[in-house]
Amino acid sequence: MQSLFDALEPGHPDWALARALDPTRIPKHAAIIMDGNGRWARKRSLPRVAGHKAGVSSVRSTVETCAQLGMEVLTLYAFSVENWKRPRAEVDMLWRLLRLYLRRELTTLMRNNIRLTAIGRVKALPLMAQQELRYVMERTSQNTGLRLNLAINYGGRAELVDAVQSLIAEGVSAEEITEERLSAALYTSGLPDPDLLIRTSGELRVSNFLLWQIAYAEIYVTETLWPDFIRAELLHAVLEYQRRDRRFGGLGDTGEGMGREPVSATTR
Ligand code: FPP
Repeated sequence: MQSLFDALEPGHPDWALARALDPTRIPKHAAIIMDGNGRWARKRSLPRVAGHKAGVSSVRSTVETCAQLGMEVLTLYAFSVENWKRPRAEVDMLWRLLRLYLRRELTTLMRNNIRLTAIGRVKALPLMAQQELRYVMERTSQNTGLRLNLAINYGGRAELVDAVQSLIAEGVSAEEITEERLSAALYTSGLPDPDLLIRTSGELRVSNFLLWQIAYAEIYVTETLWPDFIRAELLHAVLEYQRRDRRFGGLGDTGEGMGREPVSATTR
């Protein structure tokens, strides 16, 4: 997390927030439901797409801050399998924004040692978006820092269906199916499960996002709309995460200790 301090001027309001964080307990994997772009635009009497455009700035700052914090994985819910129900013009604009982001950010991704990956039914994306995505994934594939994982045309139920189908196609028998085997057949195979799930704009829903993987994630919901989710908002979310007592079904650090290692709830 030293690189966060390198990026901050002492005396900047975010400096105190960064100092309050316990560097040994940064979530390994944060997943974000970026909600509220439409409401942000409506409040300003702008078209919905203006909200998505503004949301790209939050994507940029969040990615950079997660890399500076030393997180391993950041999964962003960019487009759900249900989002095709939106007006054609809005969907087309989302693909355009994705391409623009990928094209513009490649240098920043390389500079910050970020590897880009994607989860979801990517083959159903417009060809241009697929090509841009594959190009950036290929170019960043050797980077060893933050893994920026974009959930695109993603649905948690679709992912489980795809996983079960792939296991059956491999000839796996009923007795051979275990939690580990199923986890390994998901799009997120090999990634740690999210420790922290953030949802912006106040809705108390999971919206078909990483259904299997968020079993023990700490959920943080903020009223802040996605385009207003600046660095300080992310630091607040991580601070709140560090205040939680994660018990994974056990008794935590006040009990007898069972199951997985309990994590201390204390913060500095
Ligand atoms: C939800 O807001 C947001 C989306 C469906 C799309 C998120 C996309 C971006 C932030 C931009 C492109 C992404 C990347 C990774 C470059 P909403 O439209 O549902 O808002 P509302 O609930 O207020 O209507």
